[in-house]
Amino acid sequence: MKNAKPSTIYLKDYQAPDYLIDRTELTFDLDPHSTLVKSRLIVRRNPDAQSGGATLPPLWLDGIDLELLSIEEDGELLPAQRYQEMPGGLSLSVDKSEFELEIQTRIAPEANTSLEGLYLSNGMYCTQCEAEGFRKITFYPDRPDVMSVFTTTIVAPAQYPVLLSNGNKVDSGTTDDGRLRVTWEDPFAKPSYLFALVAGDLQYVEDTYTTGSGREVKLLLFTEARNIGKCEHAMVSLKHSMRWDEDVYGREYDLDIFMIVAVDHFNMGAMENKGLNIFNSACVLASPETATDAAFQRIESIVAHEYFHNWSGNRVTCRDWFQLSLKEGFTVFRDAEFSADMNSRAVKRIEDVTLLRTAQFAEDAGPMSHPVRPDSYMEISNFYTLTVYEKGAEVVRMIHTILGPDAFRRGSDLYFERHDGQAVTCEDFVAAMEDANGADLKQFRRWYSQGGTPVVEVEDEYDAENARYSLTLRQHTPPTPGQQDKLPLHIPVAVGLLGTTGKALPLDEVGSMETVLHLTEETQSFVFDNIYERPLPSLLRGFSAPVKLRYSYSGSQLQFLMQHDTDEFNRWDACQRLALSTLATLQRQYRAGQPLEQPAELIEGFAVLLDNPELDPALVAKMLALPSAQELAEHGGEIDATAIIAARKFARESIAQSLKPKFLSRYKDLDQRKPYRPTADDIAERSLKNTCLAYLCITADEDALAVAQVQFERDENMTDVSAALAALVEYGPVETAEGLLESFYQRWQQDTQVVETWFGLQSGSASFGTLERVKQLMDHPAFELKNPNKVRAVIGGFAMRNFNQFHKEDGTGFEFLAEQVIALDKLNPQIASRLVTPLTRWKKYRSHESVQIHGALKRIADSGDLSADLYEVVSKSLA
Ligand code: TRP
Ligand code: ZN
Repeated sequence: MKNAKPSTIYLKDYQAPDYLIDRTELTFDLDPHSTLVKSRLIVRRNPDAQSGGATLPPLWLDGIDLELLSIEEDGELLPAQRYQEMPGGLSLSVDKSEFELEIQTRIAPEANTSLEGLYLSNGMYCTQCEAEGFRKITFYPDRPDVMSVFTTTIVAPAQYPVLLSNGNKVDSGTTDDGRLRVTWEDPFAKPSYLFALVAGDLQYVEDTYTTGSGREVKLLLFTEARNIGKCEHAMVSLKHSMRWDEDVYGREYDLDIFMIVAVDHFNMGAMENKGLNIFNSACVLASPETATDAAFQRIESIVAHEYFHNWSGNRVTCRDWFQLSLKEGFTVFRDAEFSADMNSRAVKRIEDVTLLRTAQFAEDAGPMSHPVRPDSYMEISNFYTLTVYEKGAEVVRMIHTILGPDAFRRGSDLYFERHDGQAVTCEDFVAAMEDANGADLKQFRRWYSQGGTPVVEVEDEYDAENARYSLTLRQHTPPTPGQQDKLPLHIPVAVGLLGTTGKALPLDEVGSMETVLHLTEETQSFVFDNIYERPLPSLLRGFSAPVKLRYSYSGSQLQFLMQHDTDEFNRWDACQRLALSTLATLQRQYRAGQPLEQPAELIEGFAVLLDNPELDPALVAKMLALPSAQELAEHGGEIDATAIIAARKFARESIAQSLKPKFLSRYKDLDQRKPYRPTADDIAERSLKNTCLAYLCITADEDALAVAQVQFERDENMTDVSAALAALVEYGPVETAEGLLESFYQRWQQDTQVVETWFGLQSGSASFGTLERVKQLMDHPAFELKNPNKVRAVIGGFAMRNFNQFHKEDGTGFEFLAEQVIALDKLNPQIASRLVTPLTRWKKYRSHESVQIHGALKRIADSGDLSADLYEVVSKSLA
């Protein structure tokens, strides 16, 4: 790595800003190559600043890739000796405690491929300022604790009739030379990361929402004309979110207008800019013909997530970026509860826990491991992680579990009231939760500062004579980079006890069937009296804490829990435990060169599930899904990719063969051919139906493939079509797959979102998605390296969702990924640095594969100048 090492920023060095910006007035004169940005700032010395004392310290303004045209102070041109341009910004000497600055800069949106700051997507101007993109627009104290009232004027040629920014439209007209001019004013003070601007030739759909207090809010969803028919679901989701936040948190929307814009080029899912959310098209546009059930549900939850940020993020924001989980962890918890209320609670929980266990646990055990509130970073974009978002949400959920729902609501009310209009810390959030309830969360706070995944080991003892049952829990957290020694955490463990007939046993005099054990010591015992038979424990119900729980269940005990546990989540979890231990056994047998043994217990358990039409089909579908290769890699010690692949393949084939008649009959029952609706019940039925279809196709029997072919040709909705196509691509003959993919492409080539599905279906296919195929896809006219969705679909699909092909023994998959990461880093560092993730886990692999992955990483490191984003991940992974 040839470039100078980017510097590390530490939480302990935080200092309040020296100056505040009371008002920010921006004028944009839009042009692809030369956009002029004029910024008028009302600056004032911060009375709470720590530095400087009586002398006035210089004013620091962040700025990157800007051409400075002029600076005026109080109407006078600033002489050159008063300021200095430096890497990353501008330092200005100050001689009074209040003044006005006017700064003119020039930027080139057309050349901006990083998708941060102001850029073009399909000819439409848009911005992305979180976390530090505003400094690519103009010189500014680009930090979240500087909150300002913004006024934005946009001037653009007439081919951009829609000109949007935050807040309310206060003026519009035309300039003398016939260009359009619009002014927006946002009355709520905000940090620069929430600024947004959009300009384009856009259509919109409009709706209204009346708040609980009777105010009417105008809702607008903007897209390019071709997508105008794909807005309804997002609009309905938005109205549900607005109602839910009033009902559950007592939070009303605060402006008269709320806008959403869909853009095709976007680094993440969506962005909560005040009053003007900007969305990745894939996370907002849907129609039954083009979007799968999964897409419908993703849209509902992301629309909710961004809307909920209006309070948890915008009205109360973060003091600094170490506090990112303050808004993200809390908002993910809020959107998860919303989705649980709108759909099946158990299924939502299963999906979130699966993500946490596969990807977040892996992050926690890897070189980028960090606490929910990190202590340091080089590039903040690298810390928009599963740990900050998903584990952060688990931490908020644990507070909810420990305090109970009413106390939690009192805490959130106090938090919003106490800190409205402020930029605050995770500490302030916990303090509000305590103060509203007289609670003590002192030890609990360690969840924010201590990284790594805790392991909780459980042993039990039954004393028949005294009708006494006891559970002994022991916790330990393995070391993570920079944190060798860990302290005991406050871990809430929800438990129930089952009797021999499957009935829940009362745990106390009042007959509670479930209780929360508060594990706070390293080792602790909990005693239950009046237990008249040896119970089977149901532990960590609903995944009450983000830990690995160990208890040595036998196969038959797990089968029992699968059928009888009163906690739906734990029924699924018992099934997962059974599948994990079965697959571990198969891997052992494979490595020892032994014949693989039929997974009899799993097959028996699945047969019972398929025979019971009373069970929630969505839950059954989740139980029938074997843990992914990625999840298996996360369990156990050294990763042997070949053994994982062989074990999964054998288990799936055995299950498919043994239960074929049951899969077929369930498939037929569920194949109702109703008109498409994205409701929880219908989605549940389709998910089990398509799970059965996939198992049928694993047999590769002609009759099974024919069922899939019929479902594909019926062309009823994208969920069924893509499930059938995926099964045929995976298990059918290659020529058939080629033909179907071609006709699918011909039908959908005009639709960006479907083409992304089409790419992902191929790159992620264990049998079809070879490296050679992936390279062909990259040469396809619809592929675009500058579009993150396409990159994620093709390269990401291969490297992150195609364990079989990516881990080919010759190591070509790793070499290929290294090359792509190097190329992407020149265009879009944020995407390059995310895409490199699969290479960062090299230490966990078996020797020969470990050497190959390490070599690929080294190659990136030695390739020349890396962005700060990629440098941080690569250097920490090699360390
Ligand atoms: N705040 C956004 C969210 O979670 C995250 C986000 C969107 C983002 N775009 C980004 C973060 C670009 C970093 C860079 O809802
Ligand atoms: Zn968010």
